[in-house]
Amino acid sequence: MEFLFGRNYFTGLPIYLDTFDKSLTNPHMAILGITGAGKSVTMDTIASRSLVTKNTQCAILDIEGEYKKRTESLSGRIIEIKQGIPSGINIFDIDKEQGENGTEKINILNKVAEIRVILSGIVKNYMDRSLNAKELVDIEESVIETYKEKGITTNAESLYEKQGGKVGNKLTLEKIKKKMPTLSDFQRILATKANSKELAEILTGFLKGKSLGMFDCTSNININDHIIDFDLSSISDEVTKFYASMVITTWITEKYMRRSEIYDEKSVYIDEAWTMLKYEETANFIENLARRARKRGVRLVIATQLPDELISSEQGRAILNCCGTAILMKQSAISVDKVIEYFKLSEGTREFLLKARPGEAILNMEGNISAVAIEVLSKEQEMLKV
Ligand SMILES: Nc1ncnc2c1ncn2[C@@H]1O[C@H](COP(=O)(O)OP(=O)(O)OP(=O)(O)O)[C@@H](O)[C@H]1O
Ligand SMILES: [Mg+2]
Repeated sequence: MEFLFGRNYFTGLPIYLDTFDKSLTNPHMAILGITGAGKSVTMDTIASRSLVTKNTQCAILDIEGEYKKRTESLSGRIIEIKQGIPSGINIFDIDKEQGENGTEKINILNKVAEIRVILSGIVKNYMDRSLNAKELVDIEESVIETYKEKGITTNAESLYEKQGGKVGNKLTLEKIKKKMPTLSDFQRILATKANSKELAEILTGFLKGKSLGMFDCTSNININDHIIDFDLSSISDEVTKFYASMVITTWITEKYMRRSEIYDEKSVYIDEAWTMLKYEETANFIENLARRARKRGVRLVIATQLPDELISSEQGRAILNCCGTAILMKQSAISVDKVIEYFKLSEGTREFLLKARPGEAILNMEGNISAVAIEVLSKEQEMLKV
């Protein structure tokens, strides 16, 4: 079902929005505009109106902590990511998957790929180098051994153990998920490999109790919460934000985006996306997320105050290419030309984009263009921001 998004700037007629609409080839959205243009208010409007009109789930990568109040008001879950404090995301948590022939299996090699990507991001940004071939082999072996130590193999049944219980006077055996390994287990195993001593040493800073130990813990996120807000606002240093963004995007791609029997639709919101797009690795994570989300019918909504940077980079354009809908808000003198050229807008839109007031935008739905004034109720605005 669509919701009232705003009014046509010129005619005053209502404009309804549903980017999951089948007439669009892609449900993703990009919100682009200078600071103060109204991107966050627009993102919040889309998220909260989708939540009240549809049976939908939303995950928010909340760099500034702007969506906490909204999340609280709608009884969602806030996951605070704070240095040195367990976040409830365990990088080594694993689930079974439906294999090609319909049988269930555990895809450990997928986890190997995930860990490799995260570690290569760490090594690149901490050591300014790439992972070498020997380290790549050691990572693979160590991930496999980490699971093996807990009795977990590719066999789906190996994910569970039987635990004795009692129902009335009867003794029962219950199947429960095994305790998952953690980054500490992996680091201990990696440290035994002759060629990965340096890598294992770097990882000590990412273990429980250390400032970067947020993801060396057991999982306790309820995957079914209707709003999951990852609040990154208390992280001020760039490197920690970079690491946290990589892990959370992986979690969203691998766990949150799985098909749900509870929700009809799912969305992922990334505000201040420029903070992630400026690093090649995290930009890659968003691109990967955008591609996979589309295949699984999950909508990605990103907002950035640096549209020119997005349009100028190859990865940025790849992400924009996946966005069937663009909401173009007030532009700077620098970005306006690039935006007009990239979206093939008429020259007449230049004045509009340069002078737009907060909440005014050009709505571009796969080339279908209209000028819109997004109307926000004062009650809705009160719920935003901390
Ligand atoms: N649709 C709207 N109608 C009326 N006022 C709006 C609307 N959208 C935004 N505003 C006003 O503009 C202010 C800035 O909006 P917002 O925080 O969404 O900007 P932003 O583009 O996210 O900026 P930044 O890039 O700095 O995060 C809001 O506090 C609000 O007062
Ligand atoms: Mg904002």
